Amino acid sequence: MAAKKKSSGSKSASRRSTNALTLLKQDHDMVKELFEKFEKTRSEDKKAQIAEQICTELTIHAQIEEEIFYPAVREEIREEDLIDEATVEHQSAKDLIAQIEEEGPEGELWEAKVKVLGEYINHHVKEEQNELFPQVRKTKIDLDELGQQLEARKMELKEGGGESGSGGSLQGSSRSRSRMKESV
Ligand SMILES: [Fe+2]
Ligand SMILES: [Fe+2]
Repeated sequence: MAAKKKSSGSKSASRRSTNALTLLKQDHDMVKELFEKFEKTRSEDKKAQIAEQICTELTIHAQIEEEIFYPAVREEIREEDLIDEATVEHQSAKDLIAQIEEEGPEGELWEAKVKVLGEYINHHVKEEQNELFPQVRKTKIDLDELGQQLEARKMELKEGGGESGSGGSLQGSSRSRSRMKESV
């Protein structure tokens, strides 16, 4: 019976629902998978490649949360402190990311740093999904609209348009790192 609806539904394809929380959770899941891959692989080259991807994804994710998501929800949720804590956690993660990118696999504690970053992000993600997101769900914020903003900014940053802030410098450093790897 329900199959009859199919033919008239083509118009809605362009307006895909992009709930902000779904979008952020997809990022969380993807990064978690990358950390698992990093743990499993024995190949040094693969590890370097995965770590680079982790750093890029996390930097973009942190940036869209800080620029768009956190400011949008800060005033609306019950515990504003959650946003302050999340921001501090981002800062520590970014410090670690910077070290990982600077040192590269040649660095003595490099692998340990990637693993610690993974544990750190795991903790942060749990707090977002278990404490922050439920509070956001209770607000009247239009999460589809917010999701569209997040997605648009993410695209922009992925295309290398993040000339402001840390996104731009990361693109530069990860590119020079892969060039370095090629020459080794
Ligand atoms: Fe976050
Ligand atoms: Fe997040």
